[in-house]
Amino acid sequence: MRGIILAGGHGTRLHPVTRAVSKQLLPVYDKPMIYYPLSVLMTAGIREILIISNPEHLDAYRQLLGSGAELGLELSYLPQDKPRGLADALIVGQDFVGDEQVALILGDNIFYGPHLPELLRAERGRLTGCTLFGHTVPDPQRFGVAELDPSGRVVSLEEKPRNPRSDLAVVGLYFYDNEAIARAAALAPSARGELEITDLNRTFVDSGEARLVSLGPDCVWFDTGTHDSLLTASLFVQNLQQREGRSIARLDEIALAMGFVDGPVRSRAEPALAAPRTH
Ligand code: G1P
Repeated sequence: MRGIILAGGHGTRLHPVTRAVSKQLLPVYDKPMIYYPLSVLMTAGIREILIISNPEHLDAYRQLLGSGAELGLELSYLPQDKPRGLADALIVGQDFVGDEQVALILGDNIFYGPHLPELLRAERGRLTGCTLFGHTVPDPQRFGVAELDPSGRVVSLEEKPRNPRSDLAVVGLYFYDNEAIARAAALAPSARGELEITDLNRTFVDSGEARLVSLGPDCVWFDTGTHDSLLTASLFVQNLQQREGRSIARLDEIALAMGFVDGPVRSRAEPALAAPRTH
């Protein structure tokens, strides 16, 4: 399975902070935001990863993460010249994906869950069609929302509905079989001119090939697209690391634990990686 991190967009809800800086490079406590989704793909066992961003920001990601070799990864970079929507990432990345399966993760989504790596690896193994991940939230109108029947089958998906049919948000991590690329290419742009991820996912619901897996109550999820959620996520990471002595998105530790590298990794002189453990 190949991974794609979509780190594009204009981050308008974070202006003026993101007027000159790519949103997914902003700090979430002690690391750039993109470390968090990258760590999720790594713990799922994915090593070939494409980072997609706006042309003007792509070099900054290259500078930050390089080839990925120090982490045992193969990182590639491609521009999305216009914000054509989340599903467009599969079209931009089609040559990179080739005939493999693909995991798409949004660069502003942060996940923490003790059982998440296990869950993701299990879902990789059983993937056909698409696997969506859901989380119960108090404000579903901000997200894609799934409605399930009593047997847990997805019956509807709606993007930011005014009157949500459930409180189950579809989070920004999607597993697809290769068919998703052709389906993304066949999508018509929405009223706002974008290829909507929810429209793509709905094609899998319609063909009976969509599975939704709940992240479960012990998982924490943030979409860090607003000032408040960004601050909340930073405080969460600070608390987790300093008070609870746990680790999140420490890429060198994950690379070692996953067996992607043999010895201790020398960091690229990034304080986040070089900092001594606080516990
Ligand atoms: C996007 C998707 C939405 C999903 C959300 C998760 O929305 O369109 O379906 O629930 O990401 O973060 P955005 O936050 O880009 O508006």
